[in-house]
Amino acid sequence: MSTTATARMIDLDPATIDLADIDVSQRELWAENKKWDFFTRLRNEAPIHYCPESEFGPYWSVTRYADIMEVENNWQMFSSDPAIVIQDPEEDFELPMFIAMDPPKHDEQRKTVQGVVAPMNLKNLEGTIRTRVQNILDSLPVGETFNWVDLVSIELTTQMLATLFDFPFEDRRKLTRWSDVATGGPETGIVETEEQRREELYECLTYFTRLWQERENQAGGNDLISMLAHGDSTRDMSPQEFLGNLVLLIVGGNDTTRNSITGGVLALNENPGEYAKLRNNPGVIPNMVSEIIRWVTPLAHMRRTATEDTELGGQQIKAGDKLVMWYVSGNRDERAIDRPNEFIIDRPRARQHLSFGFGIHRCMGNRLAEMQLRILWEEIQQRFHKVEVVGEPVRVPSNFVHGFTELPVRLHPI
Ligand code: HEM
Repeated sequence: MSTTATARMIDLDPATIDLADIDVSQRELWAENKKWDFFTRLRNEAPIHYCPESEFGPYWSVTRYADIMEVENNWQMFSSDPAIVIQDPEEDFELPMFIAMDPPKHDEQRKTVQGVVAPMNLKNLEGTIRTRVQNILDSLPVGETFNWVDLVSIELTTQMLATLFDFPFEDRRKLTRWSDVATGGPETGIVETEEQRREELYECLTYFTRLWQERENQAGGNDLISMLAHGDSTRDMSPQEFLGNLVLLIVGGNDTTRNSITGGVLALNENPGEYAKLRNNPGVIPNMVSEIIRWVTPLAHMRRTATEDTELGGQQIKAGDKLVMWYVSGNRDERAIDRPNEFIIDRPRARQHLSFGFGIHRCMGNRLAEMQLRILWEEIQQRFHKVEVVGEPVRVPSNFVHGFTELPVRLHPI
């Protein structure tokens, strides 16, 4: 093994580094937004790439669009069990959840909660979302600099999540906190110790167990907790599995849409020509929403584990090997997407991106996320000539949640 295998990528030149030494999982690359050239190099020269040593152990990177699709479409060979993130599960704190299961259990549990985002339910939710968006936008401090992440992105997605769970509205920021705690350990600064993290997640479990107990004997609830409490495949879940699925639903519906909301504002500011296009043609909004979701790629990766020895892109994969499908890279693959490094709000086939994954685990909430973003941009355009970015964004130091903690902005009303 070469000498730089554990070196800090951020100090090295992506154009000249020995391919064998590339480790795209390092957090600094994500916090500083310096990963792009490493991914370009991998796509061009080593699309199925083995990293022998990293904070997360050895792993394969899958970086081209077509290869990611191949892995997604073969769940028998590339399993979601035991984890869908690069980090292995903690042995003494397992959180089973259906995104990290294979059929048949995955399919049964997904079916149980799928109704919450059925077309009829989405139609019913549209009015609620619009009113909430209007209230949030009308309460913003015009003329002042403020953090868009906190006052808009977090607030809107947290209100939405509270609705899906029928969660006590005044306590909704607890959901934001649990979402952050679930995805960030002590290394991110969100908690001080792993112990604190677990304690907070158990508080989440206790809170939701009370809601479950209130609802398990009432028929007909249309919220996620009632659905889990009444579903054949979920009503007898262990507390740990209940917590796991809660984490899935909280993170799934929260961090992702939150970061698309923030990333969209940033992308439009970085591309003034596109912002002008939006002003001249609000009809472009649905297409723009898909382009924003591709551009931001709110979840940078999903991981799979090989169930057998196999071959992928000419590389020999061994049973038990970890494969990381880097959606951030697939979404910038020029073999599949025309001018992928440009943000083009009216690009053709904008919905052909990897941000929602593919195959049996394809994002359950994709239509809901798109609807939220569409309504938000429709309402922003009614009020503001520009949401101006006036300072540097602060990024989440994570190779999984690809997003922002801060985006200072100023509003320019119409
Ligand atoms: C822009 C916003 C969103 C993005 C980028 C996103 C992304 C993803 C991705 C990448 C996956 C895994 C796909 C795969 O492995 O092939 C996923 C799964 C999932 N998402 Fe989303 N998501 C978003 C919004 C939401 C929302 C609003 C919900 C709320 C209902 C949600 C709920 C879920 C669930 C429950 C799964 C697990 C599906 C399964 O395993 O069958 N997501 N999402």
